[in-house]
Order: sequence, then structure tokens, then C-alpha cells
Amino acid sequence: MIDDLSELTRAALDSIALATSTDELRRLEHEHLGKDADLMVARRQLGGLPVEQRKDAGQAINAARQLVEQSIHERQIALAADERAAQFDAERLDLTEVATDVAVGHAHIVSQAWEELEDVFLGMGFRVAEGPEVETDWHNFDALNIPPGHPARDGFDTIYVKYGEAGSTLLRTHTSPVQIRTMLAQEPPIHVIAPGRVFRRDTADATHMPVFHQLEGLVIDRDISLADLAGTIEAFTTAYFGAGFSSRLRPNHFPFTEPSAEFDIQRPDGSWLELGGCGMVHPNVLRAGGVDPEQWSGFAFGFGIDRLALMKFGVDDLRELFTNDVRFLSQF
Ligand code: PHE
Repeated sequence: MIDDLSELTRAALDSIALATSTDELRRLEHEHLGKDADLMVARRQLGGLPVEQRKDAGQAINAARQLVEQSIHERQIALAADERAAQFDAERLDLTEVATDVAVGHAHIVSQAWEELEDVFLGMGFRVAEGPEVETDWHNFDALNIPPGHPARDGFDTIYVKYGEAGSTLLRTHTSPVQIRTMLAQEPPIHVIAPGRVFRRDTADATHMPVFHQLEGLVIDRDISLADLAGTIEAFTTAYFGAGFSSRLRPNHFPFTEPSAEFDIQRPDGSWLELGGCGMVHPNVLRAGGVDPEQWSGFAFGFGIDRLALMKFGVDDLRELFTNDVRFLSQF
């Protein structure tokens, strides 16, 4: 029995020494020390031995078990260290590596259109003006010859802000209030554009959004005529879209211009796209801006930037511009 035991122990120690992973070691531990292991079975059979052999045999079995336990423990420590080292090696980051496939974004197509338009108008001698998005009712309407009760107010689907007297503060419905702010801030001659966000109580669909972008233009100088307006619109159209495009004015009505027109651009395929409104600045508007209509005259225009971006990039649903799906945006 003692011979058997040393044979058994040697075999166990050999297999433990040869184990190559902590998983394998766990299996060996079960095999040599588990309930059904030979050593454990022998221990349970001690009771069947003659009394004088029992003590020695018991001690031998315990010594063997301790030896096996000890060697499993040591091998476990060594294998775990190896495995950790291998894992660290596999997961090492080379921080000196130069990345070659970094994803770099770009300006949104509305921003691209906005910036290109600024470039075009700056090249034509305009300066960029700004105004607040939260406006007074006076700048957005009254000063633009739209007094309280004027039917044109209904057409704007205004979003009012709870501030001050009821109805006195709103989210600007167009960029035209910047005309007033600019006239009040500087003497003519004035040549400005005012790109910016505007707001209307609209339900989002393929051609409408409650928030969109407009670009306003205002020129105040001596002897400005409708021909200057038409020429400016034609010049900007061809500068922005390219040589195959042209523009036309169609009579229309706005309270803040007289005469007023709508302007369209013609695509190379001959089709027309309605782009915005324009006209000669109404004398009441000049007066509200502190400009003497006897000495100065001017024109103004305004159009949607988003629409123009849609057309330039061949997109047919305005909502695409605002859902900010990178898969869509990264195409441009
Ligand atoms: N503000 C007008 C609109 O939003 C556009 C416009 C601007 C018309 C300037 C005439 C002159 O519809």
C-alpha cells in the first residue's frame, strides 16, 4: 500500500509539473484530490486496515496529499503569472504607432452653404451683420412696416417667448429685423448680409422645418434702383451655383419692400426654383431705422439657406439636414 502510494504521488507530481495552463491544473486537482481520486479513496479505506498499520498508512496518505496540494499551489502561481504576462503582451498598445485611418469630420452641408455664401457676398463688397435670435416684436414686425393687427403677422406663425409684456418678445421669424438693427447702428452707405437661424411654428416635412436658416441682404446708398437689386441677385446666383444658372424676379408683396418681388433661379435643365423675396426698402422701414428716405434708397432680399444647400447637394428632404445621421452627412 505504501509503495502504491509513492507511485501514485510521483505520477501526480509529474503531471502537475507538465501542466501548461491553469485550466489544465484545475482538472488535475480534481483528478488527484477530488472525491474519487485514488488518494481520497485510500483514505476512506483506512478503517479497513489492521490497527497497527492504520496510523502509518494515515500519515503517509496525508503527507502525499500535502505534497500534491503544495505542488498544485506552486504550479498555479507560476502558470497564472505566465498567463497574465501573455495577456498583457497580446493587449499591449503601441502608443508610438502613427494612426493612418483616423476619421475626420467636416462642416455640415448647411454650414458649408452658409460659409460659401458669405465668401461670395464678401467678394462682392458686403459685410456680415448679426442680430439676436430672440427678438422684440418691434424689430421683427412694427419697424418692418407690419403694425399690430396687420394680416402679414398671421402668415409668419410666430413663436412667442414668455418675457416682458405678452406678445412683446419672440423668436425671430425672419432675418429682416437685422435690417433695422444695422440701420440703427450705422450710417449709410450700408452693404450687409445677415445669415442666421429663424423660427416658425411649422410641422416638419420635406420642405418645412420649425427652425431653418435665412440669409438677408441690405444695401442702402444713393440712387439705388431695382436694376441694382436684379444685378446683385444675378451676380450672386452665378457666383454661387455656376455659369449655367440664372435668376428672375416676379412681382410679389412684402410690407417692408415696395415694389416687392420673389426671386427664382433657373437650373441648367431649364427648371425654376423659388428662392426668396426681395424689393426696394419701404420708406417707412428706412424711417424706422433712422435713415432719411429723401436722401437714401436701398434694396433688401432674403432667402432660405437650407433649400439652397438641398439643391446644391441634390438632397430632396429638408429633414435630412437636421436628423444628423452621420451615414447621410458623411456623403458630402
Ligand atoms: N423676410 C422675408 C421672408 O422671410 C423675405 C424678404 C427679405 C423679402 C427681404 C423682402 C426683402 O419671407
